[in-house]
Amino acid sequence: MKEQPILTTERLILRPYSLSDAKELQRLIGDRDVSETLLLVPYPYLDGMAEEWIDKQSLEYQEGKSVQFAVTGRNGEFLMGTIGLNNIFQEYQRAELGYWIGKPYWSNGYCTEAAGAVLKWGFEALELNRISATHMTSNPRSGRVMQKIGMKHEGHMRQYARKSGRFEDGEIYAILKSEYNHSPI
Ligand SMILES: CC(C)(COP(=O)(O)OP(=O)(O)OC[C@H]1O[C@@H](n2cnc3c(N)ncnc32)[C@H](O)[C@@H]1OP(=O)(O)O)[C@@H](O)C(=O)NCCC(=O)NCCS
Repeated sequence: MKEQPILTTERLILRPYSLSDAKELQRLIGDRDVSETLLLVPYPYLDGMAEEWIDKQSLEYQEGKSVQFAVTGRNGEFLMGTIGLNNIFQEYQRAELGYWIGKPYWSNGYCTEAAGAVLKWGFEALELNRISATHMTSNPRSGRVMQKIGMKHEGHMRQYARKSGRFEDGEIYAILKSEYNHSPI
């Protein structure tokens, strides 16, 4: 069994989820301002959903399909958000970055800091060649994170998603390993 690594940054620890995070996960992701820009997260976020999601993650990691990190303070205790790589295709050496941070912690640079660590791990340990990310056009805050970690805007996707019964346009960004090696982060 592969063990998911723990990544550390100046202010954060990125570690695997455990069931003891479920209550706080439900509280943070249950905020409408957080879930409304996340395609696969329902609102309201009901009892039991957090436990079910946490349970699934270790299998996804073992199968090499995705990896999710709990973003916590430096003591590894209090949960601030989630960051991960989805749709990992080893054959093509690419994956998609996804993240959310609990509203009380927004605009402190936490997501950018966590994303920098995940890019490093993705390119160096997972040997990826390309990491992409998408956000709803109506959510420029997330686009700002993508720009700050050195991703390039690749395109505008018309009606790429459907959230709360509405089609939403999207933006796609990506960074290649060769670009990452030359970026300042
Ligand atoms: C998007 C999100 C992850 C950002 O997390 P964060 O920790 O606040 O991000 P950071 O502090 O690292 O960076 C946020 C940047 O957005 C900027 N920003 C804030 N509001 C903004 C807005 N309305 N438009 C554009 N940029 C904005 C901040 O100023 C900051 O940039 P700066 O450092 O150049 O000033 C967080 O807001 C979130 O979880 N939102 C809900 C879920 C979500 O949207 N996830 C992404 C789905 S694609």
